[in-house]
Amino acid sequence: MDSPFLSTQWISSPLRGAPRTPVPVPYFRKSFELHAPARQATLHITALGVYEAEINGQRIGDHVLAPGWTDYGKRVAYQSYDVTSAIKAGANTLGVILADGWFSGFLAWDARQHYGDRPQLAAVLTVQTLDGAVTEIATDLTWKTETGPILLSDMLRGESYDATLEQEGWSGPEFDDSAWRPVRLAPDPAISLVRSAAPPVRRISELTPVASRKMEPWLDGGVRFDFGQNFSGRLRVKIRAKRGTTLTLRHSEVLNPDGTLYEENLRTATAVDHYTCRGGETETWEPRFTFHGFRYANVSGMAESDSLEVTGIVLHSDTPLIGSFSCSHPLLNKLQSNIVWGQKSNFLEIPTDCPQRDERLGWTGDAQVFARTACFNMDVRGFFRKWMQDIRDAQKPNGAVPPVAPDVAVNIEDGGPAWADATIICPWTVYLCYGDTGILADHYESMERYMDFLANHRCKDHIRSHPDVDPWGGFGDWLSLDSAPKVEGTTPKDLIGTAFYANNADLMAKIALVLGRRQDAGKYTALHGRIVQAFQRRFVTADGLLTSGTQTAYAIALHFGLIPEAHRATAGAALVRDIEKREFHLATGFVGTPYILDALESTGHLDIAYKLLEQETFPSWLFPVKNGATTIWERWDGWTPEKGFQDKSMNSFNHYAYGAVGAWMYRTVAGLDTDPIAPGYRRIIFRPRPGGSISHAQASLDAPCGRTGIRWTLEDRALALELTVPKGAEGILSAPPDFPSEHKTFGPGVHRLLLQKADAPA
Ligand code: BGC
Repeated sequence: MDSPFLSTQWISSPLRGAPRTPVPVPYFRKSFELHAPARQATLHITALGVYEAEINGQRIGDHVLAPGWTDYGKRVAYQSYDVTSAIKAGANTLGVILADGWFSGFLAWDARQHYGDRPQLAAVLTVQTLDGAVTEIATDLTWKTETGPILLSDMLRGESYDATLEQEGWSGPEFDDSAWRPVRLAPDPAISLVRSAAPPVRRISELTPVASRKMEPWLDGGVRFDFGQNFSGRLRVKIRAKRGTTLTLRHSEVLNPDGTLYEENLRTATAVDHYTCRGGETETWEPRFTFHGFRYANVSGMAESDSLEVTGIVLHSDTPLIGSFSCSHPLLNKLQSNIVWGQKSNFLEIPTDCPQRDERLGWTGDAQVFARTACFNMDVRGFFRKWMQDIRDAQKPNGAVPPVAPDVAVNIEDGGPAWADATIICPWTVYLCYGDTGILADHYESMERYMDFLANHRCKDHIRSHPDVDPWGGFGDWLSLDSAPKVEGTTPKDLIGTAFYANNADLMAKIALVLGRRQDAGKYTALHGRIVQAFQRRFVTADGLLTSGTQTAYAIALHFGLIPEAHRATAGAALVRDIEKREFHLATGFVGTPYILDALESTGHLDIAYKLLEQETFPSWLFPVKNGATTIWERWDGWTPEKGFQDKSMNSFNHYAYGAVGAWMYRTVAGLDTDPIAPGYRRIIFRPRPGGSISHAQASLDAPCGRTGIRWTLEDRALALELTVPKGAEGILSAPPDFPSEHKTFGPGVHRLLLQKADAPA
């Protein structure tokens, strides 16, 4: 289809600001006459920046921060809205508010204007009237612009709105715009305008404060609200106050010991909104173009007698919840809730590392680590499809994949092991979970180029991140407790690099087979074999141990199948020894955390896996839960009773990476998985592995062919199971080793069965 934008020019305001000084948000308008009522009217609109459109005073669509974030040097998405009902015969006006957003706002650390010096707009409204005429209203030099009540709007800094500056009826035809200025033609960016395919960001839900407290003037002053949940979004305030009263809205994830907001970890993302009241009636305001990561908010500036009501507006990409997990352990249920909230908070247009500080980038490593869990909780197919395009746009001509996508601000060519590998792991995971071969086909060429890059520039004798060719070697086992540079026992970067390289080759062989590329499959299978040999030569000792004894080294080597079969038991025992030495505590960082429980289970140490999962003392998954976390912390030691807060320069309370354990709870505690050869749960593997203190568990999932689920209860020696298989699928039961079962394959329907524990051998 031809682009609807052929006759459109890009426009902008004359105002631009500088790398650290933002300017007020411009409003744009254009009036036009129609001689008959509309039969059909469509608004196609996009921006380098973020927009909200109105026709005759009516807000168009419900997207937030549209058109979304892409590599603006290459492409931008556009939206098409049916606006027939907003158009009338006679005079009409199309109005647009255009803010900096990701394009020219503060984005990563303390600078703005990463892509351009001011936002720009392209829109075309096509109206077919009942008399058969077709009218096209496109952005051009006839539009007018002026600033209005939004004095500042920035994703990191916040929004300031002065309602006394509102221009009543600005997007309606009766408005007198003779004082408004001409727009400026913006350079045509010469990039692709693509119909937006990603789930848009929306206002997904609302939170009411669970507590509020008047703050003493020498503390924050004003009123402190606690929403009981850390989330991404903003406040909506309802206020009745004197004209000119300015409210200040501040946000934080946690509180300082003295009860004030802990804002230090926001770094330069001040996250402060201001609202100046019109006065008179009760007025309602919510910022338009910013979002914050917070649980607590402080609202100040009103008088004692003013009435104030606040609501938390939860924003994220509209990726519906499709999965649920729960069990008999209340803290694990809270952990699952925290994982889901971490996902909600960070699946906002792209998979971000965190929603609160001055970063919020599409870190590839974080997304890769969490992808499997994400696919269980929500339908993230469209979200990842769009982000894989961002990765392709970020990929360098030599095939390297940077650590963030869209590629901005970070300036590292190759994201390194476990980061750049997202380019293979994420599409494969989406394929597994939804049976989507399209994502593999679209991305295949890019993956191949990436594999060539690794072979040609990052490996020596199949050792990736070999210090001779790759002195940096990537981020290592990021934030592991033994990852400090001089700590003895840090997982070597070439071990991590080679392990992930082997896993890439293995996945590439599988992907090539799915796509019917047999020759490629053979090539990658052979490569995989050579990498495994190289890994074993360099990192596995003659008696089956690894040269590095870290939990992460063993977790990845076991999980990726890099230890010779005959030595797996020895390696598993070595992993257990380290865990025992730490009194059943974790030491893994981003790299090892997703796999450690799998590695234990697959070497016969399910009991140890449960000990780690149920551990409540530091460092463990449940330590933050015990200490009031409502999302997943960036670091195991984000806060400890002994040391208080970690270094404020990197201490987010809403990073999802360690929430990667969620996939293990679905797959192994509850026992719900897909067979890789019939992906998308066309063949469901029911594989419950009860353990620890858990007496019952359930997981359910709206898989592509319908709802599947498992529920089990363990009583004495009996395991009661309920298995749900949707139409078009089949289920296979893999009973726990000590519960022999005759029932193996199940057709569509709900199946209830009772398994009896086998008698212990005499
Ligand atoms: C981010 C991480 C990211 C890392 C790269 C951090 O600043 O928050 O989550 O993966 O940098 O090492």
